[in-house]
Amino acid sequence: MSFNFNSFSQKQIQNVQDRTTLSLNGDWQFIIDPYKMGYLDYRQKPFDESESGKGGFYDNITNPGKTKRAEYNFDYEPSLTVPGDWNSQYEKLEFYEGVLWYRRNFTVSLKEDKRYFIHFGAVNYESHIYLNGKKLGVNKGGFTPFQFEVGDKLVDGDNFLVVMVDNTRKKDEVPTINTDWWNYGGITRDVNLVETPESFINDYKVQLAKNDATKIKGYIELDGSAGEESVVVQIPELKINQSYTADASGKVSFEIPVKKIQLWNPEFPKLYEVKISSSQDAVTDKIGFRTIATEGKNILLNGESIFMKGIAMHDENPLLGGRLRSDGDMRMMLRWAKELGCNYVRLAHYTHNETMLRLADEMGLLVWSEVPVYWTISWENEETYKNAENQLSVSIQRDKNRASIIIWSVGNETPVTEARNVFMGKLVDKTRSLDDTRLVAAALEVEREGYTITVDDTLGEKLDLASFNQYGGWYWSEPKELPKYAFDIKFNKPVVITEFGGGALAGFHADDDTMWSEEYQELIYINQLKMMDKIDGLRGITPWILVDFKSPRRQNPVYQQFWNRKGLISNTGVKKKAYFILKEYYRNKSLK
Ligand code: GCU
Repeated sequence: MSFNFNSFSQKQIQNVQDRTTLSLNGDWQFIIDPYKMGYLDYRQKPFDESESGKGGFYDNITNPGKTKRAEYNFDYEPSLTVPGDWNSQYEKLEFYEGVLWYRRNFTVSLKEDKRYFIHFGAVNYESHIYLNGKKLGVNKGGFTPFQFEVGDKLVDGDNFLVVMVDNTRKKDEVPTINTDWWNYGGITRDVNLVETPESFINDYKVQLAKNDATKIKGYIELDGSAGEESVVVQIPELKINQSYTADASGKVSFEIPVKKIQLWNPEFPKLYEVKISSSQDAVTDKIGFRTIATEGKNILLNGESIFMKGIAMHDENPLLGGRLRSDGDMRMMLRWAKELGCNYVRLAHYTHNETMLRLADEMGLLVWSEVPVYWTISWENEETYKNAENQLSVSIQRDKNRASIIIWSVGNETPVTEARNVFMGKLVDKTRSLDDTRLVAAALEVEREGYTITVDDTLGEKLDLASFNQYGGWYWSEPKELPKYAFDIKFNKPVVITEFGGGALAGFHADDDTMWSEEYQELIYINQLKMMDKIDGLRGITPWILVDFKSPRRQNPVYQQFWNRKGLISNTGVKKKAYFILKEYYRNKSLK
């Protein structure tokens, strides 16, 4: 059955944070529904496709008197906090994968000349959305935003929003069934009712032109405009105050020459206030301006060669054992990276929260942003491709104004086959068609023969970086052996090592031959850094990983207990010995 991936075609409202919103975060009642009782009749037919369209939990029947037999009632159910995954909120839900229903009552006083949208930051994985018993639509993809216009379904006063969430893993989905991270289910990011004027500023891009720090280039898209509407771009600090007239479709493209602009970089993450206004609407954003390019084996930030001192991280609060929920959570993770001496982070393996990128802009961290095309997915399935392309497109559309993002990654550790090359190749082309100002990459794998590590994945030819994962000292070879290895990289491109590392249980000390000990992990880092420093063209690394994270694939009862222990910091915030090796390396590593 073909799925209508509309979340890109129905362009998201850019910068929801700066709009008039009613937050729908907070406590939502929930019903666990492993047999999809609220969605399918006993013939397994969806109620919402029946003649009446009624019969599902989205009817939200709460007064049994009226329909005696209703076998559910949200009013008597406990609640889950939104935003938040369900797994970390109730022990009985820790391993739960399947269908769970959410309900949120809310009151709104509608205004005549306004439009209304319900916007979800992210819901993992497949979600069916109902407002006041009427279906709004379906979304697939657990890490990107989606919205529905609801003016015709909202009522003045009391409303109820019901969301059926299904995080069941399936082969043809993105990601597929096998991942080394916890399959957190639920409404994991903010939910807002957004109120806009009839004609409003739906989308805009305001960035420097490709590789040109003398020109701001962008566009503005109005939604609901009668055409010929005037729009203004203001950047007060740069004395920019430009007026334009939108075309019949409500679109304006512009190029504004700039002088004396302070370029954004991790040391001085300068953000400018940018105001965009139209006859009925106005939106303000904080935007940094920088250029990013490669030249031979160099990565040029604002025209200067840099070394990216990085670390990888998941969207998980180790102290909670759940998805990052608040500014505070996200700021904590980025601050840990800064304390380590990083100027760069790899946000793995899926689109992270928009707030994370805005904080990276503010705190001064370069970002590798990735879509969950992870390991072996269904390369020949057209639906799978559409799904991947949709998640990529929505991610780029959401974050295109973030200076911190310098690299779009189209996937991680995918097997080299013809079908995969075609699939990934199309994603690379799509990325470049949506944004030609950033680098495009993927986390490739290496081949080994004797003491030679070879990187010659054909996909590398289409990418801007020779970026790959290698686990010398952990999945292959011994830490002591590493200095004997050398790399044979077939691309004259900047080399960025996207993963290396090893596991250690914080507090377990032994000799450096004993796996899981901090000393073993420490030696991996000592010798990995020596081995990598020999690479001509090494321009960045993101060791795996900042902090221990939950994984259903890690069942060693002594050292793991469902935690991947490759963190440099434990899940209780303890810094392991390897942490200090990397910190020292970054303290001495020059940026040039
Ligand atoms: C892989 C993968 C990660 C995983 C890591 C590991 O390379 O990309 O998602 O967690 O290795 O094995 O720890």
